[in-house]
Formats: sequence, C-alpha cells, structure tokens
Amino acid sequence: MSETPKLNISRSLEIYNEACSLVPGGVLGARRPGDFIKDEYPIFLETGKGCRLTDVDGNEFVDFLCGYGPIILGYCEEEVDQAVYEHIRDKGFCFSLTQKYQNILAKKIKELVPSSEMSIFLKTGSDATTAGIRIARAHTKKLKVMRCGYHGWHDWCVEMKGGIPSKFYEDVFEFQYNRLDQLEGLMAEHGNDTAAIIMTPFGHPNHQEMQAPAPGFLEGVKELASTYGAVLIFDEIRTGFRVTLGGAQQYYGVTPDLSVLGKAIANGYPISVVTGKEEIMMAAASKLFISSTFFPNSDAFVAALKTIEILERDKVLEDIWGKGEMFMKKIQMMIEKHDVGAKLTGIPPMFYITFTKEDSGAYKGKRNDFYTQLIRKGFFFTPYHHAYISYRHTIEDLELTLNAIDESMAFVKEKYQ
Ligand SMILES: Cc1ncc(COP(=O)(O)O)c(C=O)c1O
Repeated sequence: MSETPKLNISRSLEIYNEACSLVPGGVLGARRPGDFIKDEYPIFLETGKGCRLTDVDGNEFVDFLCGYGPIILGYCEEEVDQAVYEHIRDKGFCFSLTQKYQNILAKKIKELVPSSEMSIFLKTGSDATTAGIRIARAHTKKLKVMRCGYHGWHDWCVEMKGGIPSKFYEDVFEFQYNRLDQLEGLMAEHGNDTAAIIMTPFGHPNHQEMQAPAPGFLEGVKELASTYGAVLIFDEIRTGFRVTLGGAQQYYGVTPDLSVLGKAIANGYPISVVTGKEEIMMAAASKLFISSTFFPNSDAFVAALKTIEILERDKVLEDIWGKGEMFMKKIQMMIEKHDVGAKLTGIPPMFYITFTKEDSGAYKGKRNDFYTQLIRKGFFFTPYHHAYISYRHTIEDLELTLNAIDESMAFVKEKYQ
C-alpha cells in the first residue's frame, strides 16, 4: 500500500507564522497544531459547506470533527442561516432588554429534555457548566463538587492549572467514568459538604476510549447524589440534541436534577443552557447574579429554534443513527480484518478510533500514521478527539471515507508487521 503524498499546507503555515507574533500560540487551545499532527493538518480553514471543509491552501476534506460538536446539520445550513439573516435584518438582535425568544426556547427545551422545568441561557459550554455549579452551591449552601469529564476552561475545572490559585479548585474532586466505587469513596469523605456531582452521562473523557454507562452506574450516581442531598448535573454539552433530542439522559433513562446543553442546539451559533428542576433553578432568580452583555442576543435563539425545528421535522437524529450504525459496523469489520491494534468505541452519532497501548510504544506511531494517511486523503478525523456524524454526511461520503479508512489501516499494517 503506497504512502499518500503530503498535503500542501504552505499558506496555513504562512498565516500561522504571522499569527504567532500577533496571538500568543498563534491560535487558541484545541486549535493548535499540537492537537492534531504537526505539519500534516491545515491550521486555517477558508470555507465549509455541508460536511465538507476547504482550507486556505485549497485542500478539501470530508469533515468528522463538526466544529468540535456544534455542527449537527451541516456547515452553512441554509435554512438556519436564512432564519438568522431575516431576523437580524428585520428585527435586530442585540439590545439592552430581552426579546421574547427565550420563552419559546425554554418551552421547547422543557418539552424535549426530561430534566427541564426552567432554563437560563448563556453562550458557551463553559458558561453553562460554571453557572450550573454556582446554582447548585447557592441552592444547597454547600461547597464541594465531584466531577467526571471535560467541563470547559474555567478555573474550577480546567486541566492546565496555570494562572489559577489552588483555592479555586481545591474543593473540586475528580472521579472516573464508570467508577462508582471512586465516587462512593469521595462521597463517604465529603458527601455532607457536596453541592454538586457533575458528569457527562455518556463517557467521552478527553483523548480516551468512549464508554457507555455500565449497568447501574448512572442510577448509582443518582442514588448517591440523593442520599447526600447533592445536585446531580448532567453535562450534555456534547450529547444534548445529538444522542436524542432529550439528550443521553433520555437515551439511558436516568434524569438528573440539572442539565447543561450547548453545541448542537443551534448548529454553530453560540448559545448554551442550564436547565432543570424549578426548585433548584430558582436559586438563579434571587440568590446569585448571572448576566453578560451578549447572553440575551436573539440571533442564537432564532438559530436554536430553527435547528430544533429541522431536527424534529426531518427526523435528523434517526438519520444520523442509521448512517452511524452502518459506518461503525463497517469500520469494525476493517479493524478485525487488518488487526493493527485499532479499537472502535462510542455510539453511532459520536465514535472514536483509538489504538490500544503497547509496551513498545508502537501504538503512537500507528495512530500517527493512520490519521496522517486519512488527512492526506482528504478525511478530517483527529487522533485526539472522537468523531461526529452530521446530517449532511451522505452514504456516498461515508463509503468514500470507509475506503480511505481501509487503505489507511492497510498502510499501517504493512508498515508495522
Ligand atoms: C462535555 C463538555 N462540557 C463543557 C464543554 C465546554 O464548552 P465550551 O467549549 O463551549 O466552553 C465542552 C467543550 O468541548 C464539553 O465537551
């Protein structure tokens, strides 16, 4: 199996070199070259349409990162964008007071998401997880927090601790997904002071295999929260409006006290939500202050309402599940055929190909080669983050992708056998 030639990413590198003198690190956080494969992936994109991206050098990709999650329909989704254009042209979207759309969206979320009785609306996932914790602390008058998963960049939960006084996170304790025993231990010690348990209901820890809940895990967490009077918060920033319209909580049949939603709700427009039981959410009415200049901007509300309308009308999630099931089944067959230590985990709307650790460390080379071949062939997966399927991936796109996955695994097989 011959090696696919390297992409020309010279324009990306040129812009990046300039960026490094203007923006610390050139670009922020998880967009840096080190989060992909240096000198192989583009750094700057030019356009996106449907499930395809074009970078600044003119390379085209079938994309499976979906903007890190918000793109549930597709890039430049005409109906959503049109609704927003018309709204900002005819009515305006940034005012000192709130427009009526928040009520419409809050009602819709209440109808769809099992835990929802009242909602507040913010911009980012980090806003929402942080607000959820503040609400839980104000409601319970307790301090400590148990957490499981990535919850954003804010002081209480970010992994890189640079610039953060330890007092900001010393009351936050981490447990691993599916390790009820760890949480039981933590709660035995800190349960009486615990305001919240926040966790992703589906296991998608950064850079690691994805995990469905073991039987009784989510129920066990809920039981612990209730025993100690802590608020159970499901972080559905990735799973909300993607696993089902009611989130992973609906799929797994466990309802938390509060939920946080974001990403897929508005197909890329910035809006996030904290939603949950009225008696807990009411803490946000009088016991604390949450406000930000752009929170009420109605463009993203209009985008969310239109996105949800399309998700329901066109049975988008059923379509994604159907395509994803076929895709995962065929990837699994290739994994078994080539037997190079690759592993597929996840569920049809979001899944991940990882390489099982070997003492020799060869898995790192295999992973690098596999993902390098894919990006060179024009398929945007990343080694350090799971993939998503969007509505605009066609069966034909997926068949082309399967062919590229097959060839990339064959390349790895030949190189490492
Ligand atoms: C589960 C989860 N929670 C919270 C966040 C933070 O969201 P944002 O990046 O919009 O601040 C993310 C972002 O990837 C996430 O995946």
